[in-house]
Amino acid sequence: MEYQKDILCIGAGYVGGPTMVVIATKCPQYRVTVVDINKEKIHAWNSDHIPIYEPGLDELVKKVRDKNLFFSTEVEKGIHEADIIFVSVNTPTKTFGQGAGKAADLQYWEKTARQILANSDRGKIIVEKSTLPVRTASAMERILNGNPDGIHFEVVSNPEFLAEGSAVGDLENPDRVLIGSKETEEGRRARKEIVEIYANWVPKARIIESNVWSSELSKLTANAFLAQRISSINSISAICEKTEADVNEVAYAVGKDSRIGPRFLNASVGFGGSCFKKDILNLVYICQSYGLTEVADYWESVVKINEWQEKRFIQNMLSNMFNTIAGKRIALFGFAFKANTGDTRESPAIYITRGLLDERAEVVISDPQALINAEIDLEDVKDSLFFEIDPYKAASGAHAIAVLTEWDLYRNLDYQRIKEAMVQPAFIFDGRNILDHQKLFQMGYNVFAIGKAPLKHF
Ligand SMILES: NC(=O)c1ccc[n+]([C@@H]2O[C@H](COP(=O)([O-])OP(=O)(O)OC[C@H]3O[C@@H](n4cnc5c(N)ncnc54)[C@H](O)[C@@H]3O)[C@@H](O)[C@H]2O)c1
Repeated sequence: MEYQKDILCIGAGYVGGPTMVVIATKCPQYRVTVVDINKEKIHAWNSDHIPIYEPGLDELVKKVRDKNLFFSTEVEKGIHEADIIFVSVNTPTKTFGQGAGKAADLQYWEKTARQILANSDRGKIIVEKSTLPVRTASAMERILNGNPDGIHFEVVSNPEFLAEGSAVGDLENPDRVLIGSKETEEGRRARKEIVEIYANWVPKARIIESNVWSSELSKLTANAFLAQRISSINSISAICEKTEADVNEVAYAVGKDSRIGPRFLNASVGFGGSCFKKDILNLVYICQSYGLTEVADYWESVVKINEWQEKRFIQNMLSNMFNTIAGKRIALFGFAFKANTGDTRESPAIYITRGLLDERAEVVISDPQALINAEIDLEDVKDSLFFEIDPYKAASGAHAIAVLTEWDLYRNLDYQRIKEAMVQPAFIFDGRNILDHQKLFQMGYNVFAIGKAPLKHF
């Protein structure tokens, strides 16, 4: 079959995989290939057990795989054949040298750019799908267009706004798609080609076109704003715990203001995920490098509040459990950074597990999807931990339960049965405010939620 476009995506991770699955589903007229250097990941994408858990994704993969969607490790061949290349490789925080701990580590991106150059015999459109520091596109164009053969590459920014756990819905019905390019004739032509792809299923009014720098900066800004809302309500949760105000009531009242809105106002143990912290620190680094110290400090405080909230959660457990948790069994309900994903990157559960182990607690981790990743994250302390998928077994013999992920599963457990198998007095620390606290208190639990007065029997 002749395809209208040959699209390649480099990077088969949480973004590249689902994004290309949805493009292939919506555009049977395109051939879509996803390549990755990670052989196991590609093998998994080609198997019955795809490498990420995302509601609805499995079914879509089955519909289009080996029809117009292909997963492969042949990166060079893929580059050679493609007209349009989405680059969705990871851009973690740099851990070494200048900017360590803040700046984006662009080595994977640059390697990819050089690989594209080495395997192209004609011009291509390169799409920045990864989240990148503002002005990365120009650096990439310099590398790509510095070739002696006069081959021209156009770099377009098309940041991804999907949220893990709802990736399929977000991709099928996005709030907006953002496509930025240079304001030159060639830049606008390339932008139009990418608009055409999305226009197959996204209403035109939701496709935003901008200059390339605005597009790059908008992604960092969107994540900074989302994380800021969480840190804002979490900071208020601390005041609530001191004053007997209830953070849910405050968030409801505040969110009813149409200028503010209700979303992202759930107080919790803190935000996680691979992006928020990394992208804010990246923004902080950019501000610092332009001498914008006040702006950098402002955004850095969002990350600081988040770290403080995690720390506060552990301190709260310790002080309420009679200032010692040494030898006490603590069941963690949830390890993923949010519900409906197995992703544990930067999950508050990692920090909390380590904090509890430092206090010599016996920690049992339970999660319906994230236990494999939890074992990898905690490889160095794995022998001091227990992993148990069944929450009833995890809580059996425990002194306390800490809810760290808002999985629906944990809302509907038989907490009476659980309590009977726990050591008394039984404690619940609800780090996601998803349980019925009054009901649990009446059952005899001592209940500690975020931003609410504690419910104690002593
Ligand atoms: N995860 C999210 O929810 C999300 C949302 C929006 C944007 N983003 C951004 O998208 C980018 C990718 O994130 P992710 O979560 O998909 O990362 P990921 O780690 O899940 O996937 C990246 C993939 O790229 C592959 N890779 C790295 N170098 C490669 C190379 N040279 N050739 C081929 N493959 C290579 C890795 O093996 C990995 O499988 C990041 O910049 C991230 O900030 C992520």
